[in-house]
Amino acid sequence: MNREELIKEAFKAMENAYAPYSNYHVGAALLCHDGRVFIGANIENASFGATNCAERSAVFAAYSNGIRKDDIAALAIVSDGDRVCAPCGICRQVLIELIPQDCPIWLSNGTEDVDTTIRELVPMQFTEEDVIR
Ligand code: THU
Repeated sequence: MNREELIKEAFKAMENAYAPYSNYHVGAALLCHDGRVFIGANIENASFGATNCAERSAVFAAYSNGIRKDDIAALAIVSDGDRVCAPCGICRQVLIELIPQDCPIWLSNGTEDVDTTIRELVPMQFTEEDVIR
C-alpha cells in the first residue's frame, strides 16, 4: 500500500469520527510491514478531557491487536480542517514511545500535504529511557 492509498484509508476512517462538540473530524490509518492497516478516528466526550484523538485511536487499535513498534511502516493522519492536523502534544508523546522514530507520518487535509516523522515533530524527547534506568 502506498502513501496515497493509506491517506485514502485515513479519510475513510474520518467518516467514523464522533465529534459533536468540535465538529472537527480526524482520521488515521496505520500501515504495518505485513500489509495490515489499523484505523482510528477522534472520539469526543461531554467530559472533554476524555476525548481520544484519531492517531491515538489507530495506534492503540494496532497495539491491541499485538502490533509493536518495529511492525509499523507508516501512519497517515487526515482532517477536514483548513490546514493539516499536526498531532497534538499528547499524541506526540504517545507516538514517541509507540512508533519508530523515522516512521513516515503523512498529513493531509485533501488540499495540503505534509510528510514528517516523530523525530522531526519532537526534537527533544522525554522517553522510556529517562524513566527506566
Ligand atoms: N484531534 C485529533 O484527533 N488529533 C490531533 O492530533 C488533534 C486533535 C481531535 C481531538 C478533538 O476531537 C478534535 O480534534 C478537536 O480538538
